[in-house]
Amino acid sequence: MTMDTQHFDGVLVIGGGLAGLSAALAAAPRRVRLVSPAPLGEACSSSWAQGGVAAALSPEDSPALHAADTVAAGAGLVDPGRAALLAAEGPGAVRRLASFGAPFDRDRQGEFLLSREAAHGRARVARVGGDRAGQAIMAAVIGRVRRSAHVEVLEGWRLSGLLQDSLGAVCGALMERNGVLTAMRATAVILATGGVGGLYAETTTPSALLGEGLAAAALAGATLADPEFVQFHPTALDIGRDPAPLITEALRGEGAWLVNAAGERFMTSQHPDGELAPRDVVARAIHAEREAGRGAFLDARSAVGAHFPKAFPTVFEACRSAGLDPGVAPVPVAPACHYHMGGLLTDADGATTLAGLYAAGECASSGVHGANRLASNSLLEAAVFGARAGRAASRRLGAPRPLAQTRKLSRLPEEDLQALRKAMSREAGVIREAAGLERLLSRLDLLGARFPDAGPLIAARLIAECALERRESRGAHFRADHPEAAAEARRTLVRLEAGSLSRKAA
Ligand code: SIN
Repeated sequence: MTMDTQHFDGVLVIGGGLAGLSAALAAAPRRVRLVSPAPLGEACSSSWAQGGVAAALSPEDSPALHAADTVAAGAGLVDPGRAALLAAEGPGAVRRLASFGAPFDRDRQGEFLLSREAAHGRARVARVGGDRAGQAIMAAVIGRVRRSAHVEVLEGWRLSGLLQDSLGAVCGALMERNGVLTAMRATAVILATGGVGGLYAETTTPSALLGEGLAAAALAGATLADPEFVQFHPTALDIGRDPAPLITEALRGEGAWLVNAAGERFMTSQHPDGELAPRDVVARAIHAEREAGRGAFLDARSAVGAHFPKAFPTVFEACRSAGLDPGVAPVPVAPACHYHMGGLLTDADGATTLAGLYAAGECASSGVHGANRLASNSLLEAAVFGARAGRAASRRLGAPRPLAQTRKLSRLPEEDLQALRKAMSREAGVIREAAGLERLLSRLDLLGARFPDAGPLIAARLIAECALERRESRGAHFRADHPEAAAEARRTLVRLEAGSLSRKAA
């Protein structure tokens, strides 16, 4: 490949989801170059979010209650200070999105209409057009970014590595477009590359999301936190499609039930909150029904019925595209990879352990999700911590030094990627155990020998190795061979050193 070098005096934001866009806007008046692998709004999970944005917006609610629910959902691994920060900045973040033009649903008095989702003690999810939150919020924020003179948008560029100077500080990124590599030097870099859904055969996220940000940061020596914590959404529409359409949890908030093929409700015997139990509990219950051959279906006939097309247009359209009408019959559901709680360890302003490198959104581990993210906290986190990272990165001053050698990510051939996805779903999915994780790691070793520095393999190894090491069950990480939680909740902190993961004290 040929290589071009560009010098950019400003902040390089990599990723066009809500975190990247929020960072780009908040970095003003500093110049920002926003690079995205796809046209803005496409191939990013933010646009696919259905539920909405969680924030304490009603008089019956408070940031303290929101923070407490966030901490409780995270099963001992949420940083309470960060949860408090997220919840305190939540209402302002929603109002900011509204000021950009996001058309949140309102009541007659103009107040936000709020839904209740699993593990929230209050109705606090601000929604748009029923289940169109992600799409509508992103359209508004993209419009704002395109109108912002300080932001230059480059679409169709993929991350291939991070540039580091002779002292190890990150000073740009190696980007690839149409087979041409470009070294983009910048004063600061913000990774907002999203999650890892594409590493799994069943995912509710765009399948292009392969953990490249994690992999590039790992190769550069950044510390990563809790990579084993992958959230599986309980209700993906099970129609054999890749990615699988999401069926928003808000439907269960409206009273939809989960039943097996015999029409029996199975959540009532599993958890006092029934269908609104924490996401991991519901995902495991659905997995168990399916494994036992009883099947799992969402029955929204009496909760939504004929209102479906208007109340949940996205879910309705997905069902109709498969010849199903969720208003008149239960629809088949299965758990699917939905969100990565792990990521680059960051402080409250998105700074990673490498000077010059910031991270926000799903590729970051800001400390607010712990072992299990609370529903609809992801768009909120992207907006709040994206903006914090943008402001912090905008303050960084450049110190031009010679470049060190860059480790470039390689690609995995399609056939091997598809085999990897199946293996990840089987061995590092809803239920894990040592034997399966060891099989997965042996497969990763073989693939790694053929494709060294392949981004998907590095990201998958981080998940698999840390899942094997965590000999307990906590939140979204369930080990059949260690079904109890350890007495002490500990975060995983790891770095890649000389090709192997080295653990740091949490
Ligand atoms: C959903 O609408 O069920 C997903 C929301 C989320 O992932 O937080």
